[in-house]
Amino acid sequence: MSRIFINYRRQDSEGYVGRLYDHLREHFEPSDIFMDVEAMKPGVDFVKTLEEAVVACDVFIAIIGPQWITAQNEDGGRRLNAENDFVRIEIESALNHDKLVIPVLVGRATMPAGRDLPETIAALAHRNAFELSHQRFAYDVEHLVRTIKSALLPAKPASKARASSETLRRKMREIKALRDRLFEAKSSPLYAHRVENRYFPVLGDGNPDANILFIGQCPGEYEAIQGRPFIGASGDVLDKMLLTIGLKREDTYMTNVVLDRPPDNRDPIPSEIEFYTSYVDKLIEIIEPGVIVPLGRFAMGYILRKYDLPEKKMRIGQLHGKLMQAQAAYGSIFILPIYHPAMVLYSAREKDTLHQDFQQLKPFI
Ligand code: URA
Repeated sequence: MSRIFINYRRQDSEGYVGRLYDHLREHFEPSDIFMDVEAMKPGVDFVKTLEEAVVACDVFIAIIGPQWITAQNEDGGRRLNAENDFVRIEIESALNHDKLVIPVLVGRATMPAGRDLPETIAALAHRNAFELSHQRFAYDVEHLVRTIKSALLPAKPASKARASSETLRRKMREIKALRDRLFEAKSSPLYAHRVENRYFPVLGDGNPDANILFIGQCPGEYEAIQGRPFIGASGDVLDKMLLTIGLKREDTYMTNVVLDRPPDNRDPIPSEIEFYTSYVDKLIEIIEPGVIVPLGRFAMGYILRKYDLPEKKMRIGQLHGKLMQAQAAYGSIFILPIYHPAMVLYSAREKDTLHQDFQQLKPFI
């Protein structure tokens, strides 16, 4: 997926965009730049492909030319207001995903005021704009390139900027919808066992915008009775480990690779992991954590396969405490496998290892 998304209106700025693209090509690979809707293969779902490309990018460039704000459809209506206007849809998506959105003014256009924009993209007016002037084009583009490059630097472990209240509300809504879906999912491999025992499914719990996402194995009895993850003995260990780095569980998000309790406390089986991790994938998409912490071999195996890491065949004994980088649909992320906290319950010696591995999470706070 491309890291730079160029959003523009053909009738408004095509010439400038072509020139900008040629300059960008001196600094970036063609695959880094998503620009032309027409480059999409015939038959692909337009809206879905655009949404995916926007979510995957690190920098979103909105080219604004002289007719950007007033451009009309054949029926005389303003294009920006039309339901199917891709320019607006893409900007909405970039703003909703908190992308770095850079308005780039061309052809002496000026930055539109928020009041002149559809409400869903009014926030664009607050983004700092770049101007590409005709006379100083090369010079202005160099400046833009420097900004893009600094946004594309390889990720370093880092804390996450606080999400806007609007983003937080959206994430809460999406997690609630996912929880409702899981509750109703009669095709769940463990649905009958759940109903028979009056258990709850356990989607997860915590901050919907957490930077740190823990993924455990499966709910135990306490968890299935209350519908919350990690509230038994393993949860106590986890809480204590979090305290050593000054965190509370509410600062993180916790889930499992299997979201219903298996019978007789047995280990999860591959078909269960396959079914429930479609929910885990969706959680990752919604929460957009900077670091995923698989707890134990089942979660680690799943996450390393999901991101196709070269270490995917290695064992947790070799990988615990190793910070690895992966590419998620929404950007660069880290993966830090850690032993399952239940290890400490069986072997006190492992407490020091767990403690040490947890310290690696400090830069993400
Ligand atoms: N509780 C959970 O929610 N997951 C585990 O892996 C263990 C206990």
